[in-house]
Amino acid sequence: MIPISCVRLSDDAQRLAVDVLRSGMLAQGPMVARLEREFADFVGVPHAVAVNNGTTALVAAVQALDLQPGDEVITSPFTFVATLNAILEAGAVARFADIREDDFCVDPAALAAAVGPRTRVLMPVHLYGQTADMEAIAPLAQEHGLGLIEDSAQAHGASIGGRAAGSFGIGTFSFYGTKNITTGEGGMITTRDEAVADRLRVLRNQGMRQRYQYEEAGHNYRLTDLQAALAIPQLADYDRLVKRRKDNAARLSAGLADVPAVRVPAELPGRSHVWHQYTVLITDESARDRDEVAQVLAQRGVGSGVYYPRVVHDYDCYRGHPQVVADPAPVAQRVAQRCLSLPVHQYLTGDEIDEIVAAVRTAVAP
Ligand SMILES: Cc1ncc(COP(=O)(O)O)c(C=O)c1O
Repeated sequence: MIPISCVRLSDDAQRLAVDVLRSGMLAQGPMVARLEREFADFVGVPHAVAVNNGTTALVAAVQALDLQPGDEVITSPFTFVATLNAILEAGAVARFADIREDDFCVDPAALAAAVGPRTRVLMPVHLYGQTADMEAIAPLAQEHGLGLIEDSAQAHGASIGGRAAGSFGIGTFSFYGTKNITTGEGGMITTRDEAVADRLRVLRNQGMRQRYQYEEAGHNYRLTDLQAALAIPQLADYDRLVKRRKDNAARLSAGLADVPAVRVPAELPGRSHVWHQYTVLITDESARDRDEVAQVLAQRGVGSGVYYPRVVHDYDCYRGHPQVVADPAPVAQRVAQRCLSLPVHQYLTGDEIDEIVAAVRTAVAP
């Protein structure tokens, strides 16, 4: 089977992890502090605050903006459910602006149209490893005096106009087991704002600045040194890993360019895509629908994934939820029925990529 994702920890990562084991300091300590410094440099911001996953990163980011009951966060309807759950957990109301089909991210025009009197935060999601159109979204937030949280869980090192994901507003990242940089579970928050960084550090640590002096009701959102040790070598090697993903994406796209049943993903002008996922759309020209194509691929030993099969709020648990406004999202709905992610990870061989291309060509043919 050619897997959709693959993790191999380098000797450096293993050595650093053993150093931590031998140090006896397994919880948050100097390794986390080192990762924070290096991650802040990587994103090009002064502050990075490590947390225990990408969901808690989002919760803390929303909490740091001090919303009042009834205040609204507008996000993408085409995202992992954590984006929505974090908004709800932080006590805000979630609303949605539809996506663009070319980058799968929230459409700035739809976002502008959705801003209303209760809007407090815009939360674009940089899906699949490509940023949303931050050159339009950041000025929109500024014009309306809104908070800006970039869900960058899938977009470590992605950029637009030379600026990295997570450097426009408050950036939140995930180091979950399948992400481009992984610690199994883990997360990071980036910001230019010193007061926000300070607040996040307090929130992460039970609301405590000095020992047993509590400033507010906080959380235990701490990352461990053992996890940080795994991320540090991956960050140092990241450019090389992304180059491999870019080359793999280019080879997949070249192999599928002449197949009308498949619309290949694009790196849009001015953006650097880090190819967390390589996601095609199965068009009406295909002899099989998306789920059937995935089945044929599986039979041939090619892994694939559907991220995501439905609009994020299209589940019974969110219908009638007092904090969810199910704004219509026809583009996201159409994409959710047609999207299929193919393996693009850095460990694929050329032969495996050619096999993926051949399998897709067979799967969509009559
Ligand atoms: C877009 C998006 N947001 C948030 C998250 C949440 O991250 P985590 O799984 O680390 O909590 C993920 C990943 O899982 C994600 O893909």
